[in-house]
Amino acid sequence: MKNPHLLKYRIVALLILYSVGTYAMDSPTLTLRKNDQIIKVLTQGEIAQIKDGVVSVTVDNPTDSKVHTYDGTSLAVLLDHVFGNSWKGFDLVKFITSDGYQPVIPTDKIIAGSGVISTGEKGQTGFLKLLRSNEETVDPGPFYLVWENIKDKGNNEDPWLSWPWQITGIELTSLSREFPHSAPPALSGEVAKAGYLAFRQHCIKCHSINGDGGAVGPELNYPVNVTEYWKAEWLARFIADPQRIRANSKMIPFYRDMKNREAAISTIIEYLKVMKDNKLHDKKYNPADQESR
Ligand code: HEC
Repeated sequence: MKNPHLLKYRIVALLILYSVGTYAMDSPTLTLRKNDQIIKVLTQGEIAQIKDGVVSVTVDNPTDSKVHTYDGTSLAVLLDHVFGNSWKGFDLVKFITSDGYQPVIPTDKIIAGSGVISTGEKGQTGFLKLLRSNEETVDPGPFYLVWENIKDKGNNEDPWLSWPWQITGIELTSLSREFPHSAPPALSGEVAKAGYLAFRQHCIKCHSINGDGGAVGPELNYPVNVTEYWKAEWLARFIADPQRIRANSKMIPFYRDMKNREAAISTIIEYLKVMKDNKLHDKKYNPADQESR
């Protein structure tokens, strides 16, 4: 005689197995890489269990200008957990997202900062949709990078601290890998690297280096680097206040109310000096080459 209850139990067991299976398949994961190499793939559940990392953070969300409290894991602790201390030796951390946006953030900002990889609105499964200024709504999940910006208002002014949503991966990377034409070589000193980050922040929208950057102002490295015909001292004065050196200059003065303004300008000059020995002999920039074709 067959036991009819047994069949019932089997069906229930199958249903449970099935739902656990689809849950595991659907559970979003975060892929962590060193350059191209995958080091670890973590599920939301695994991230939520990282020792000492779990936090909830209340932020003033720059997308919808509302206060939200998010559950998540400290970004620095997450990186420690996956990479040990080694991540601190990389220049940049890159965020891979499903909408194609791939911002990079200097590692120093992450060491100093209060970034949280959030997995949902506090006390909820997942996120409330955000209303953007163009009236579109967006679900920032499965992983959303947010920054504490209520106690530390300075985080709102720092253009490097982006808030990428729909994150699927985090990648440790270098300046020369991300910006092969204009970055100082990997072995350059920290000052030139800091100068390059400042140059990207303040200058690259108008000026190119080896062809990488904007065209409002002139290229500054090729064929002759600007430090080869400007004295560093005058360069510093010009960058600080262009119109005091050249009447009618179209260039905007360097951020006036910035802390350590002079030091920041001198790191930029250091970067420019390093680039004089790193000219890209790109055909596009060498009219002689083009003529000979
Ligand atoms: C809004 C656009 C803009 C920004 C931002 C800008 N510049 Fe300029 N820059 C110009 C223009 C335009 C010129 C061309 C000459 C002029 O108008 O003074 C110029 C000229 C220069 C020159 C002189 C080049 C030469 O051959 O004489 C240097 C050096 C320079 N910029 C460096 C910088 C640095 C460094 C930064 C960032 C701190 C920067 N600029 C930011 C627009 C800009």
